[in-house]
Parts: sequence; structure tokens; C-alpha cells
Amino acid sequence: MAVVKTGIDGMDSLFSEGGYPSGNSILVVGGPGAGKTIFSMQFLYEGATKYGENGIFVSLLEHPEKIRKHALKFGWDIEALGEEGKLTLIDAVTQRVKKTDIDMKVARRGLDMSHLLGILEQTVKDTGAKRVVVDAISALALSMSDIFEVRTEMLRLSLSLAEMGVTTLIISEAKRNDIGTSEFPVEAFLFDGIITLHLDSDAQKRRLAIRKMRGAKHTLGSYVVDLSEDGIKIIA
Ligand SMILES: Nc1ncnc2c1ncn2[C@@H]1O[C@H](COP(=O)(O)OP(=O)(O)O)[C@@H](O)[C@H]1O
Ligand SMILES: [Mg+2]
Repeated sequence: MAVVKTGIDGMDSLFSEGGYPSGNSILVVGGPGAGKTIFSMQFLYEGATKYGENGIFVSLLEHPEKIRKHALKFGWDIEALGEEGKLTLIDAVTQRVKKTDIDMKVARRGLDMSHLLGILEQTVKDTGAKRVVVDAISALALSMSDIFEVRTEMLRLSLSLAEMGVTTLIISEAKRNDIGTSEFPVEAFLFDGIITLHLDSDAQKRRLAIRKMRGAKHTLGSYVVDLSEDGIKIIA
């Protein structure tokens, strides 16, 4: 089986094959501050710098300058990787900030999935990207009132990503930080995998669990996430 290594300390060994099954679309669910964006950016950064796999970060919520500035705190120079074509930002939030960014101009009247998929497909072709992050799919639910429509669009996203041959982390913002197994968002069953990140503010700890991963054997435990200026480490 082809496997995509996260390169995150302690993460790949949770899978018997040593990483995500190549081509999977994986939902990363968690409340605010759980570490979803950092965890996903690290996947792209490690891919671009360690494994020679280019990445695309689709920002549906945050200003790209903010994303770059935040990443730099961990020593990840997204701007330099962008100039080398190794990490491309697709920006649905603002007008294009850097010439290496791709301006989506779609979010103003709600998210247009066809448009997003068109740009994503073109960018995958142009950059040869193997890894994609979408931060965050919750933007879709914000722009649609009908839950059936939201599900249809999410399924379309999941299927299109599979056709593009990329391995994808799709971030989903949970309202609360105490998500358990019974509280997955509606989109959970549409994707190949589910990883939860949980912030326990009482215990002052973050935890990660793999709830589902199509095509892979993985551990079912929940693990402490160490977050420092070096990024994320999983304490198994
Ligand atoms: N250098 C750092 N060292 C340790 N923790 C940090 C650092 N920078 C940010 N954090 C923590 O990471 C959190 C944000 O992580 P992020 O991935 O943006 O969360 P999410 O996307 O799930 O909302 C912050 O709330 C903060 O607690
Ligand atoms: Mg985030």
C-alpha cells in the first residue's frame, strides 16, 4: 500500500503501515485552539521539506498573511516554499496578497464549490502537489442553509480530491472542545478518515485520536499532543 508520511513525531507509528493511505481525504475535527491548523500545516511543511511532496493550503477562513506569520513562529517559512512552488496558498479570504498565492475570489457570496474544485484541480496539475489542506470546511455550512446541499457538496469535494490523487486533510471546526464519538459532524461519514483533536483546558492538555482510516490498521487510543515552538509531537 502506498503511504503518505506525516513526518510528525509519534504520528506515523500509530499506523501499521507507517502513515496515511495515499489518496485518502481525512477530516480533522476539533474545537477552537485544538491545534488543527498547526497539525495540518506541519503535514504540508514536512511533505515539502522532507519528502519532496508539494502541497496546497486552501484558506477559507484566515488571511494568508496571518497563516504565514503564524507558521513562521514554528520556523516554517511558507513564503520561501511558495516561491519555490513547493507550498501554494489558495486564498478565498482576501485579494491576492503574494504573487505566488492563488486568488480564488469566491468567498464573497458564499463558497462556490465548482469554482474551488476547478482552481484546486488546476493548481494540483501546475504544481504536481501530492498533499492538500482545506481550512476549514465549516465555511461551506456557513454559506448554505440546506443540510442536504452541504452534504452533497462535501461528497463532491471528497470524490474530486480522490480523482486528483492527492492526500487531503479537511479541517472541520467543532463548536465545542468536548467532542466525543457520538458528536461527529454530519460530514464525518463522507470522508475516508477522521482524526479528532481535543483541547482539555482543565487538564491543560491536547489529545489526538484516529477514529477512522479507510484502508489502514491504526491504534484506537487517544494520545497527548505536545505543542511547542518545534510544532506538534504525539506522545504515544
Ligand atoms: N509557539 C507556540 N507554542 C505553544 N503553543 C502554541 C504556540 N503557538 C500557538 N500555540 C497554541 O496553538 C493554538 C492555536 O492552534 P491552531 O492550530 O491555530 O488551532 P485551531 O486551528 O484548532 O483553532 C493557540 O491557541 C495556542 O494555544
Ligand atoms: Mg485553525
